[in-house]
Amino acid sequence: MCGIIGIASNKPVSINIINSLKKLEYRGYDSAGLATLKDNIINEKKCSGRVEELEKILFKTPSNGNIGIGHVRWATHGIPNIVNAHPHSSEQVSVVHNGIIENSDEIKKDLESKGIKFKSQTDTEVVTLLITEALKASKPLESVFKTLKKLKGSFALGIIFKNFSNIIIGARRGSPLAVGYSKNENYIGSDSYALKSMTNKISYLDDGELCVLTKDEVSFYDSRLKKVNKKILTMSENEGSTDKGEYKHFMIKEIVEQPLTVKNCIDEYVDSLKKNINIVNFPIEPQKINKIILIGCGTAYNSCLTAKYWFEELTSIDVEIDIASEFRYRKIKFNSNNLYIFVSQSGETADTAAALDICKKNNVKTCSIVNVIESTIARNSDWVLPIHAGIEIGVASTKAFLGQLTVLYILCLKLAFIRKDIDGNNYVKNIINLKKLPEAIKTCLKSESNIQLMAKEFVSAKGSMFLGRGSSYPIALEGALKLKELSYLHAEGYPAGEMKHGPLALIEEGLPVIVIAPKDKYFEKTISNMQEVIARGGKIIFITDNKKESLNENIRFGLRVPHVDNFLSPVLLTLPLQMLAYHVALLKNCDVDKPRNLAKSVTVE
Ligand code: AGP
Repeated sequence: MCGIIGIASNKPVSINIINSLKKLEYRGYDSAGLATLKDNIINEKKCSGRVEELEKILFKTPSNGNIGIGHVRWATHGIPNIVNAHPHSSEQVSVVHNGIIENSDEIKKDLESKGIKFKSQTDTEVVTLLITEALKASKPLESVFKTLKKLKGSFALGIIFKNFSNIIIGARRGSPLAVGYSKNENYIGSDSYALKSMTNKISYLDDGELCVLTKDEVSFYDSRLKKVNKKILTMSENEGSTDKGEYKHFMIKEIVEQPLTVKNCIDEYVDSLKKNINIVNFPIEPQKINKIILIGCGTAYNSCLTAKYWFEELTSIDVEIDIASEFRYRKIKFNSNNLYIFVSQSGETADTAAALDICKKNNVKTCSIVNVIESTIARNSDWVLPIHAGIEIGVASTKAFLGQLTVLYILCLKLAFIRKDIDGNNYVKNIINLKKLPEAIKTCLKSESNIQLMAKEFVSAKGSMFLGRGSSYPIALEGALKLKELSYLHAEGYPAGEMKHGPLALIEEGLPVIVIAPKDKYFEKTISNMQEVIARGGKIIFITDNKKESLNENIRFGLRVPHVDNFLSPVLLTLPLQMLAYHVALLKNCDVDKPRNLAKSVTVE
């Protein structure tokens, strides 16, 4: 995962490197580091843990230099400590790296057999030492080029050179790398977001490309070292603010923002006057779509699974869903009449991006549903449907999930209508219901104080279970994912009907079991499954939109969300689960916005 930044300027760069690293921390926060160059001396500073620590070090011992690179790490090779923190430097070069060098062990053995010594356990250090060796006979660009030829894997690199004090070289294979331009200053960064406070003019390196930056110019080279020209793009303005405002954490701010982000999303796609959905330019004529394949990871996968229920109910289109890390290695039978839809908040998730690449190689039509419209996945797909949720900073995805659901539902309605699977009346009725959703979300948020009480039940629990049927099943998965990710408590989501096939054995006296039971066609069946859990001592937390259901003494906690159209209930049922995960994490003193071992953008496979 990791985030990299490089700045070549006419003034000292360390403060701007720190500021950019703070923005990149969503990619990893195991360690941080920077290297600047002054008077032909590479000055390296590193810490384990957060950028804040690096900032303190820099405050005590400032780093000068008008050129520098920085890094935040999500550990892959070697434990998160100072030695393994980037940059990795030799006498001659300093390197920051995002991604994985798959053949690093092999290269390391070879270099060690020549008497070269390694300091760290990382895969990155082989890059440093290969370039150092190559520099004995070649100039910087050629040395990097020769090194790249020896590397296998997926990576982005930023490199500075002791004896070539005005250049930074950037290179990418697989992992993304952006270049930014400003007066007397140029940049490389893992993404445009890291560069946004410094410039809105950017280019992206294509796979296999390299760039050489000075403060005044940037040159690009293809994978054969032939000079290429790049388009300079102007970045869009940020939707949403990037500070916590009055909130203690980004996560709760993002949860509370949901009525607005969902409303913004609906307003982008729905013509309220004409009661119509403005989605055009389908990459395949809607009538001819044979099948839809929805692909994502984590929370994005859960939104795909929810949408499968909608597409199956409302359209005549066959739908498959897939986890990107599985899809990319299977022997898929591609079909040019299928539409492959990639769902991703960041648009940078390595597995999802790789699955998209495979589709492109097989000449099938692709669509992406993303939050970051400048992202790799958005740029590489035939058709983009943004979710307009605004920047999401908390590692746990909340408003992006609701945004993904909203766009998927809107797409489903539009396809159902164009294909005449639903008639005009139904289409308009569903649009009207959808427009009511933001208000209903607002009402859901009012139950936060009840959820705080509920959260206490989880503090000393050994584990927990989330059960639902139909479209509440993916919401059970999402609730469990949020809880485990934030509070490190074992949490499993199951289709309620599946319990008797094994998981019921886990139920014991006092185990918290969250039952998600909207008043839909599964309601009675879910209640029966709940009784089976009650009979075995499970402590029930019951979430429903059914006004009639009285909450009996066997239910430890009950929570009602507003009743909306059945198709939309998954959206509302998600809110209590997001708030529950947040409050359990608070009670357990966990780092809500940066849970251990995780990162916001998962750019390694
Ligand atoms: C959810 O809370 C996660 N942190 C994670 O599952 C995330 O949804 C997943 O990594 C996919 O990310 P993306 O949407 O940026 O592709």
